[in-house]
Amino acid sequence: MLLLCIETSCDETAVAVVRDGREILSNLIISQIDIHARFGGVVPELASRQHLQAIGPLVDAALVDAGLTLDDIEGLAVTRGPGLIGALLVGVSYAKALAFALKLPLVGVHHIEGHILAIMLEQPVATPFLALAVSGGHSHLFRVDGVGRYLLLGRTVDDAAGEAFDKVAKMLGLPYPGGPVIDRLAAQGHGAGIRFPRPMLNKPNLDFSFSGLKTSVLTYLETLPSQPDQQTIANIAAAFQEAAVDVLVQKTLRAAEEQNLERLVVAGGVACNSGLRRAFGAAELTSELKVYFPSPPLCSDNAAMLAVAADDYLCRGARSGRALNATSNWPLMDAAGLFTFVR
Ligand code: KG4
Ligand code: ZN
Repeated sequence: MLLLCIETSCDETAVAVVRDGREILSNLIISQIDIHARFGGVVPELASRQHLQAIGPLVDAALVDAGLTLDDIEGLAVTRGPGLIGALLVGVSYAKALAFALKLPLVGVHHIEGHILAIMLEQPVATPFLALAVSGGHSHLFRVDGVGRYLLLGRTVDDAAGEAFDKVAKMLGLPYPGGPVIDRLAAQGHGAGIRFPRPMLNKPNLDFSFSGLKTSVLTYLETLPSQPDQQTIANIAAAFQEAAVDVLVQKTLRAAEEQNLERLVVAGGVACNSGLRRAFGAAELTSELKVYFPSPPLCSDNAAMLAVAADDYLCRGARSGRALNATSNWPLMDAAGLFTFVR
C-alpha cells in the first residue's frame, strides 16, 4: 500500500510517503527548534500554530519528493497520541479531512509504536524482541510480540530520559534541546572525578527514575565555588550522561534476561546518544543479545516510522473511524484496541 503519513505530536511537522510499510519514498521534517529554543522548551500554543502553517505545504512537498500525486495514495496514517493535544489535533484533523475528501482508509497510530517499529524501515527484526523507548516523553521497556502486541515491563516513575537530558542542559546554561548538546560536550569531558547516583538500580523492578539524578546535578552545581568553566560543564555533562546511560543499559539487560529475549531495539530521540550506542555495543560483545538501533534520522521524530504499524493495520482491515480524536495521554498497550475492522 502507498501510505501518506503525518506526525505532529510535538515540535516537528513531519510528512512521509512509504510503500508497503517498508520503502521510504519521501520523509520530510520541518523543525520548530529555532522558535522554541529562545523559550528554553516547547511552547504548546506556538507549536500548534507552526504545525498549521507547515502541514499543507509539507504534504505537497512530500508528494513531489516521492514523484507522486494525492491520486496515487492508497491510505493515510497519523499520530493520534500521545503528545501535545493542540499539536496532535492539527495532524489528526488534516488527515481526517484528507481521508474524507479522497475516500481513503485512515489509521491513528501511537507515537511510541512508530518509534519502536521504525527499525523495520531499515532492517527486519524478528519478534519477540525487547524495546527500550527513550524520548522526550518516554523511558519505557516493552516486550514486543508483533505489531499491536506490546507488554509494558518497566517505565520511568518521574521524568523521561530525554526530559532529564533537556533539564540538566538547562541547568548548565546550554540551549534547547539539550540532549544532543550534552552528548557533544560529554565527548570533551571526563566524568571520572564526579559520580552521580544510579537511581533505581538496586530496586528489583524494571522501572526507571531520572528526577533524583537531575537533582544531584543541581546540588553539585550549588556546591561549586564559582560559575563553572567550559571544561567543568563538559565534565558534568559526561558524568550525568554516564549515570543515565548506566541505568538504562543495566535495567534493559536485566529485562532481556528476565524475559529471555535475544533481540533488543532501542528507539526514540535519546537512541541517537553516542554514549548509549557505545554502551549497548559493549554489552552486545559480552552477552547473547543482538542490539538494533535505527539510524539517527529514524530515531528522532519523523512520519515514516508510522507506516510500519499503519500498513499492517490497514492491510488487516483496521480503520480509525470519523470519531478519531487526538489523545494526549495514551498507554501503548491500548494502541491496537481502538480500530473498527472492515472486510
Ligand atoms: O523521540 P524524540 O525526537 O521526540 C519525542 O518523542 O520526545 O525525542 C526527543 C528527545 C529530546 O529530549 C532530546 O533532547 C533527546 O531526544 N535527544 C537526545 C539526543 N538526541 C536527541 N538525548 C541524548 N543524546 C542525544 N544525542
Ligand atoms: Zn518521539
